[in-house]
Amino acid sequence: MKACPVIAIDGPSGSGKGTIAGILAARLDFSLLDSGALYRAVGITVHKSRIEISNTKQIIEIINNMDVCFQYNDVGRIFVDGEDLTTLIRSELGGQMASKVAVLPEVRGALLDKQLAFRAGPGLVADGRDMGTVVFPDAELKIFLNANVQERAQRRYNQLIGKGIDATLPDLLRDLKERDRRDTERPVSPLRPGKGAVIIDSTDLTIQEVVDQVLTLFSTVASRPY
Ligand code: C5P
Repeated sequence: MKACPVIAIDGPSGSGKGTIAGILAARLDFSLLDSGALYRAVGITVHKSRIEISNTKQIIEIINNMDVCFQYNDVGRIFVDGEDLTTLIRSELGGQMASKVAVLPEVRGALLDKQLAFRAGPGLVADGRDMGTVVFPDAELKIFLNANVQERAQRRYNQLIGKGIDATLPDLLRDLKERDRRDTERPVSPLRPGKGAVIIDSTDLTIQEVVDQVLTLFSTVASRPY
């Protein structure tokens, strides 16, 4: 196995990727790449600056000058150019704006190096839509985590209500379906399992069960128990 092994975890919104990736990174003492947060940071900055999605040149300028910093503590804070934008970035607006800028090939290209820079010893857990297909096609382990859309909407609803944020299940279900469609149908880096990816359906699994499955798979790849 390479000095900096990568576990790539791809899947649709609400499949549990983020939670699972965070637990795995902490457990293995690996770095963590939340690539969705990078797309969200771009989307929110574009929104705040009132730039049209069609203005690719200006969006790329934003990306090239943008400093995104992650603080992985209790809530996982995200700072853009020193400003704490965690709440906005994690909002539904953040998700929708992210998926709008994510269809632009220039945006994906400009974010590639930033993502590759997360690969460091002793290893990386990378969470997103194209980790196993485009960003880390040589990942030691590729997981495609899925769950049915009703279950994913319900999880998101529970998460938001738990945080005291207003939400309705029909609205969340509609937004998730719209985002799924945009992510899977875009011509550049569409959401799909990478070559050799193990597909896990988390609909009826607990977080711990998914984590255990991934650790068992990684132990096989690494030829040592985790
Ligand atoms: O994973 P998360 O919900 O934070 O991602 C937000 C959006 O960013 C996704 O719906 C997708 O459009 C985009 N994204 C992407 N490629 C990634 C990660 C996220 O296109 N690697």
